[in-house]
Amino acid sequence: MWLRCTSKCVFASLSRSYNNVLSRSFNIAAFMPEAAGFEGVSDRAALQEFSLSNSDHFWAAVARHRLTWISPFHTVQDCDLSRGRIKWFEGGKLNVSVNCLDRHVHTCPEKVALIWERDEPGSEVKVTYRQLLDMTCRLGNLLRRRGVKKGDCVTIYMPPCPLAVASMLACARIGAAHNVVFAGFSAEALAERIRDAQSSTVITVNQGVRGGRVIELKKTVDTAVEGCPSVKQVFVAMRTENPVVMTDRDVSMEEEMKLEDAVCEPAAMDSEDVLFLLYTSGSTGKPKGLVHTQAGYLLYALLTHRYVFSYHDGDVFGCVADIGWITGHSYSVYGPLANGGTTVLFESTPVYPNPGRYWEMVQRLRINQFYGAPTAIRLLLKYGDHWVHKYDCSTLKTLGSVGEPINTEAWEWYHRVVGDGRCPVVDTWWQTETGGICIAPRPSDPDAEIVPGMAMRPFFGMKPVLVDGEGKLLTSNNTSGPLCLAQPWPGMARTIHNNHQRFIETYCQPYPGYFFTGDGAHRSEEGYYQITGRLDDVINVSGHRLGTAEIEDVVNHCPAVAESAVIGYSHDVKGQAVYAFVVLKKEVGVPEEDLSQLLKDMVSKSIAKYACPDQIQFVQRLPKTRSGKIMRRVLRKVVEQDLGGLGDLSTLDDPAAVQEIVQGHQDLC
Ligand code: WTA
Repeated sequence: MWLRCTSKCVFASLSRSYNNVLSRSFNIAAFMPEAAGFEGVSDRAALQEFSLSNSDHFWAAVARHRLTWISPFHTVQDCDLSRGRIKWFEGGKLNVSVNCLDRHVHTCPEKVALIWERDEPGSEVKVTYRQLLDMTCRLGNLLRRRGVKKGDCVTIYMPPCPLAVASMLACARIGAAHNVVFAGFSAEALAERIRDAQSSTVITVNQGVRGGRVIELKKTVDTAVEGCPSVKQVFVAMRTENPVVMTDRDVSMEEEMKLEDAVCEPAAMDSEDVLFLLYTSGSTGKPKGLVHTQAGYLLYALLTHRYVFSYHDGDVFGCVADIGWITGHSYSVYGPLANGGTTVLFESTPVYPNPGRYWEMVQRLRINQFYGAPTAIRLLLKYGDHWVHKYDCSTLKTLGSVGEPINTEAWEWYHRVVGDGRCPVVDTWWQTETGGICIAPRPSDPDAEIVPGMAMRPFFGMKPVLVDGEGKLLTSNNTSGPLCLAQPWPGMARTIHNNHQRFIETYCQPYPGYFFTGDGAHRSEEGYYQITGRLDDVINVSGHRLGTAEIEDVVNHCPAVAESAVIGYSHDVKGQAVYAFVVLKKEVGVPEEDLSQLLKDMVSKSIAKYACPDQIQFVQRLPKTRSGKIMRRVLRKVVEQDLGGLGDLSTLDDPAAVQEIVQGHQDLC
């Protein structure tokens, strides 16, 4: 159970008086140059207010100042949340790769763009802006020569590495969309995403290396593409020296890149052309391909990267998320590169070769902002403070947390031990759908007070609201409810690939006029936001989003299974773990342990290892309402061992089912 935190951050009071001085002498031109002309804006609060009440003016100024346009936009935004229409910067043309590369090559070609922190500590590779542009152009030319056209979608199945980033940017350069699939997903999950995206080209590596183990990524792709008739070619980069079987379909990426020209004409893209698809789990059905477009996404990623983390030119930004997730997209790749920053690509794990890995890396790479997930922090704190104290982490200035609620213990440890009580911890709330951070403690004021475990304040132009069950606005403080976003922002997803109706039903219809996030939140007495968790059947395992329906789908495919219900339950390291209740068909004749293992293997094979149920309980029947709906609330209470909280069971079809399940659960524990 996460505790609501009330204790204030230690340095908050110290900085408050300093704060007052600061706000009096607030220099807007130094803080946000494009805001200098905003009428009546002389302090931070006024700037925040301006970004909401003069949203078009705010975003137009930022877009003109921060992006390099081929031709200017004529309309700042044309959005109607109730109908799912979202358009920003129409009429404008630009190229995202030019914004991330060429303009920095112009001013600082030898600046390091990427630090590839390879699995083996001490073997990092630095790539300058000039080198990254060279790679991107060669790859862009190769893709073009091999028939990839503007509007096509290329699937990328690679671990974090410079060639993966170059692949994303090469797509952007020639106007193709990319679809990065986390390299921990199974062949089946990959195939499903390739089919939905209708990719004809897949980019991968021969093998991955993680935590000292070799992972056969090319083999996984081979298996996946067998079921994907759209795939015509697979580009294979060499991460290790081990040869892999190459078929007629396969292309040796590095060898072919050498033959290409290092100059590649960037495509002039409309602001609303697709930049990428990224699949994520929903509460029902198959994962959905969220669509992000060019200008708005890039602008939102770069602005949040700079302001939420107080990123300054010359800083080294260390986001340890995989590029297969939105955090990797926005804060390992697009945000930092659009800002001309130096960004780390982390290939390893927090405990390889030992639990000091992150902090040894911070010391060696002189990282200034570290951005990671609470699950890793919870794991590392168990190993003790000495793993942090062994290393010099004095370069750190800001610590970020993302993906799931950060509990007080983890927050305190991160702040006190890793940040030496000196570095602010910014708990950032956002989603694949939002493109970038929406709520974070210090979006507009690098000295603002921070309350542990709270995301706190909306970013510029963001208007979070809480609603009640009927969709009415909850206007007072100290209240909780479904979290919605009341004003469109440039970074938001535009649709679900091939299914705009699902987009409207999921995000726009639950609370008309608002974008519904699927999360609940509490607004404190002071007006700060704390995320309380998902309101739907999406669970969060080690910071990875999973739909319980996806797991049930796999389990139900086993011929021995009649039906199943999957829920998430609290886990002290992973945040949530997967618990499956399974009803077997009569006379299966296989021992339960064997079946249990079989079901776990099926989930690994169909989705990914992290989706595997931690517990499988075989039951005679599931608690259902008279209309046949599974009462998951009851199952959750049983697993939490909160029998007093079972609530009203009168709508149950067969109340005896609960007793059996309680008994079975106790036996399992
Ligand atoms: C959860 C990851 C609490 C939330 C960027 C959201 C969080 C889902 C936080 C999105 C946070 C993300 N505190 N919960 N700071 N950040 N979440 O799409 O439930 O992988 O809806 O994006 O993660 O997960 P996604």
